[in-house]
Amino acid sequence: QQTGSTIILFTCTKNEYSTSVFNLFQSRTKRELASPLHLRGIRDPYGSYCQRRGGCCPGRNDQCTVPYLDTICYCDLFCNRTVSDCCPDFWSHCLGTTPPYPPSKLNDKVNSEDSTYKENCNLCTCGQNGRWECEHHACLIEDDMIQEINRRGYGWRASNYSQFWGMTLDEGLQYRLGTQRPSRTIMNMNEIQMNMNGNDHLPSYFNAVDKWPGKIHEPFDQGNCNASWAFSTAAVASDRISIQSMGHMTPQLSPQNLISCDTRHQGGCSGGRIDGAWWYLRRKGVVTEECYPFSPPQQSPAEVARCMMQSRAVGRGKRQATAHCPNSHSYHNDIYQSTPPYRLSSNENEIMKEIMDNGPVQAIMEVHEDFFVYKSGIYRHTDVNYHKPSQSRKHATHSVRITGWGEERDYNGRTHKYWIAANSWGKNWGEDGYFRIARGVNECEIEAFVIGVWGRVTMEDMHNHHGRRK
Ligand SMILES: *[C@@H]1O[C@H](CO)[C@@H](O)[C@H](O)[C@H]1NC(C)=O
Ligand SMILES: *[C@@H]1O[C@H](CO)[C@@H](O)[C@H](O)[C@H]1NC(C)=O
Ligand SMILES: *[C@@H]1O[C@H](CO)[C@@H](O)[C@H](O)[C@H]1NC(C)=O
Repeated sequence: QQTGSTIILFTCTKNEYSTSVFNLFQSRTKRELASPLHLRGIRDPYGSYCQRRGGCCPGRNDQCTVPYLDTICYCDLFCNRTVSDCCPDFWSHCLGTTPPYPPSKLNDKVNSEDSTYKENCNLCTCGQNGRWECEHHACLIEDDMIQEINRRGYGWRASNYSQFWGMTLDEGLQYRLGTQRPSRTIMNMNEIQMNMNGNDHLPSYFNAVDKWPGKIHEPFDQGNCNASWAFSTAAVASDRISIQSMGHMTPQLSPQNLISCDTRHQGGCSGGRIDGAWWYLRRKGVVTEECYPFSPPQQSPAEVARCMMQSRAVGRGKRQATAHCPNSHSYHNDIYQSTPPYRLSSNENEIMKEIMDNGPVQAIMEVHEDFFVYKSGIYRHTDVNYHKPSQSRKHATHSVRITGWGEERDYNGRTHKYWIAANSWGKNWGEDGYFRIARGVNECEIEAFVIGVWGRVTMEDMHNHHGRRK
């Protein structure tokens, strides 16, 4: 007696295709049509049928059968051409090979409703000829890419992330980033003139988290919301306000407030622009994450949750929320605003000085396919996929928050300079949500467009907020 478990053989059948499959079976003339079990592509567990029978028969031999469940299976080489009436051990015993898809691997993957299964990011369906036909998308996580990166030693290590598993590379680029490249006018925005004084001492290592403890906010997780434009802006503004208020206010500003309410030329979780985000922060302001929590899109990211609160002017340049917090447990619906953002030059030292003096900065960067699997070390875009078709080598624009820098010596004695930056892919990605990336070489264009900003913090604000603190 066979156990209750079933396996799927290397061939497949699909309900809609029953007729054509039936015809294929029919072509074996006198042979009985396989049992209904066969038709659903489900068979009994492994067994040594052909082996027990005492061998395999060359060519076609309709007598070359073994009893099998409530029917018979075949051990003739004709099996190789037909659908699925050969014995489970036909491939191994008669041909000395394994079926194109090992049955054991397929076992719990196949959805018996519609005869499909997913191989990483690719959907496999049962084709007309009774063979599995899979899509050929480049996946966001490719085992061979991870192995190659770790084997070749690029100075950083790659890892598998379950949150990315099963997504295509295109989906990753479409749903995990979400910053529109600034227009040419914006890209040509004047850089602020910084007086780099020969005396400015820039240390070899600097981390905003150490200089301003409790004022630098932890990396966020944007989920499948294509809105790094809102996440990086809210994060930089949160840090800057905390630093400038000397810790009297340490708001974690709400990306959702931007996503839902800053809708002028913005796409919410379908992407947006950082200049638009800064405009909104300056003119309207946003509340905290606690007041207006992030709600990742459930169905289509294009559906932006409607705006739950605006702000209105109440004199002396101050603004007030028009509604209670969307989170009914939060009563602090204070509005936080910023001053106009300013653009820094692409000079490494000027960026460093700005971070050291005023706090983290925002930067846009090009995210390439290998960045998603980054785990630790100093990231540089690698050439592991250069030999692959262009669909495996893609990039799109993202924005992040740079919080510090450092340098590291490798075993050859060479020094590698890096930036420390916070991503918005959760804290289990990279180095606790942060990554390090090569510094001084405009790696992935991270030095091409860097933004700083001041929070709008008055003495009065500091006083009021101070009074409220526990
Ligand atoms: C099985 O059939 C395929 C296609 O007809 C053929 O290329 C292959 O050599 C056959 N394998 C064996 C072991 O007969
Ligand atoms: C990566 O993670 C997924 C989901 O957790 C898992 O199914 C897959 O086998 C993993 N791949 C590797 C190479 O570890
Ligand atoms: C994600 O954002 C980018 C930049 O705005 C945009 O080009 C892309 O179409 C967006 N993807 C989706 C699925 O909305």
